[in-house]
Amino acid sequence: MQGFGVDIGGSGIKGCLVDLDEGRLVGERVRIETPQPSVPDAVYGVVATIVESFGWSGQVGVTFPGVMKAGVAHTAANVDKTWIGTDVDAGLEQRIAGSVQTLNDADAAGLAEMRYGAGRDRNGVVLMLTFGTGIGSALFVDGRLVPNTEFGHIQVDGEDGERRASAAAREREELGYPEWAQRVDRYLDVLEAGLWPDLIIVGGGVSKKAHKWVPLLSTRTPVVPAQLQNDAGIVGAALAAVERLAP
Ligand code: BGC
Repeated sequence: MQGFGVDIGGSGIKGCLVDLDEGRLVGERVRIETPQPSVPDAVYGVVATIVESFGWSGQVGVTFPGVMKAGVAHTAANVDKTWIGTDVDAGLEQRIAGSVQTLNDADAAGLAEMRYGAGRDRNGVVLMLTFGTGIGSALFVDGRLVPNTEFGHIQVDGEDGERRASAAAREREELGYPEWAQRVDRYLDVLEAGLWPDLIIVGGGVSKKAHKWVPLLSTRTPVVPAQLQNDAGIVGAALAAVERLAP
């Protein structure tokens, strides 16, 4: 079975047809720079262009980098603040043929990892973290998503967790992997103290370099890199739309 997923990010908007039996993209994904300012109308236009370029008219799953409930955005940490309170499903459905289901970007990536990747067949409490511009989180209990956890914003030593330990912080402050790993370690310490997960899956672009920093972590929880990497958001969005997993 095929689905269609679109991943809205702070720098790029990516979409592709998805093979939901295998959990992988069908053909090449399309990526268009996120318009600046990243206001809803401009972003809707890009999503519509991507969907049309595939001639797709079925259901579309869409990720958003903020809290999403029943199609409405409730936060916008790293995109334009005008998203807050916007009915994204309704806005997109005016522009594209099929129905739309929108969900948090890390939740989508987590759904894909749990079904097809590093979390397959894993019960207990599994935490997926995506390290990018921010830190996204997706929490699973016996394979079921607890939607919209926002663990990127837990306070670590008086600061927003993602401000210190995201991949963007590493680049911004020109940290080497050992130095950045220390920050991630401290962040995970605080998370573990409150959550005690059974497995942590780390995703985002930096998961490709997992060998450079994951072995340096001193967490009590096993930490494994994500397997779908850049495609997890698109695959998870398509899956959520078809199986109606969006909150
Ligand atoms: C947002 C989350 C999002 C994460 C990754 C955070 O700043 O609050 O909703 O999942 O960034 O994009």
